[in-house]
Amino acid sequence: SEPLRLGIAGLGTVGAGVVKIVRQKANLLATRTGRSIQIVAVSARNRDKDRGVRLTDFAWEDDPVALARREDVDVFVELMGGSDGPAKAATQAALDAGKDVVTANKAMLAHHGQMLAQLADEKGAVLRFEAAVAGGIPVIKALTEGLAGNEISRVMGVMNGTCNYILTRMESAGLTYGQAFAEADDLGYLEADPELDVGGIDAGHKLALLASIAFGTVVDFAGVRLEGIGKVSIDDIRQAADMGYKIKLLGVARMTGRGLEQRMAPCLVPQTSPLGQLDGGTNMVVIEGDSVGQIVMRGAGAGEGPTASAVLGDVMDIARGLRISTFGKPAVALNKAQTATVATP
Ligand code: NDP
Ligand code: HSE
Repeated sequence: SEPLRLGIAGLGTVGAGVVKIVRQKANLLATRTGRSIQIVAVSARNRDKDRGVRLTDFAWEDDPVALARREDVDVFVELMGGSDGPAKAATQAALDAGKDVVTANKAMLAHHGQMLAQLADEKGAVLRFEAAVAGGIPVIKALTEGLAGNEISRVMGVMNGTCNYILTRMESAGLTYGQAFAEADDLGYLEADPELDVGGIDAGHKLALLASIAFGTVVDFAGVRLEGIGKVSIDDIRQAADMGYKIKLLGVARMTGRGLEQRMAPCLVPQTSPLGQLDGGTNMVVIEGDSVGQIVMRGAGAGEGPTASAVLGDVMDIARGLRISTFGKPAVALNKAQTATVATP
């Protein structure tokens, strides 16, 4: 069969990781999907930057929108980041041209997911974003496939690797906030604007996406009650430890009689609980469904390999011929007025 041809915009932590996997595991990807997966063109800001991977076989586009529109690109892989600007423009251009899109960009999806889902639906294109929520944990696939027969009552978890890393290192190694932050940066966890991480906004984006998928509602980021880790001091962490607790940035979304509640805030969790033992950049997502009961998924929530792994999972589904967008039909069909988000007390 014909190769699946990728155009990748963004060659930072995640983009370079995807290029490495496609290069190193070409045979495995082809064997598992029945189709060869090839990168044909790439884009980033700086053409001359050494990214630790060979790019000379691929066409280079300075403009991601031009990359998205290329005739020889079947799947546009958006790994630039940013809720608006080139990421949104190029994603729209790709979908408008009927091309499938895989992205890790939760900020863009939290703000424009409904519009992009609608466009994909109109054009018969597929829009996938497993990497946008909880990095390497295949939580979206679990919700949309394995748990599809369940009524979901609650989704919750730790969904920002940076915050969990900083809190863990302050607690266990006695690092200052600045030292822990610098380590998280070295590991490739931070958003281009780290205020999105420490302000709880990135985790809020993920919770809004997860809630929309779990409950079949439109993405309602504005309805997330948000608090970041900026006000958590080393004294707070020590006092919590003295009482047998740890502080985690925990998100909860649940469907109530009054509608959807979404909250992301630092919480005390017992040290001995599974959440209390979640260290470093690890994420945990808990899903509760009527038939299945409680499912707990744990794994790397950020960084090159785990995030590239999730991107590749989406690309491989498209290579296998799965024409399923992450936002299902209910989310596409609903409009904003039909959401029933309530503020938590
Ligand atoms: P980086 O900042 O490491 O990389 C961003 C890339 O996009 C860079 O290669 C940059 O080019 C390129 N870029 C930025 N603006 C433009 C532009 N205007 N035109 C062309 N290229 C541009 O980000 P990450 O790889 O960390 O993140 C990428 C996406 O993945 C984001 O949406 C992020 O939220 C998401 N994500 C990241 C995770 C992680 O652990 N890092 C985990 C899950 C999701 P140049 O290199 O030349 O500057
Ligand atoms: N900045 C994000 C985090 C990347 O720390 O979790 C993964 O989405």
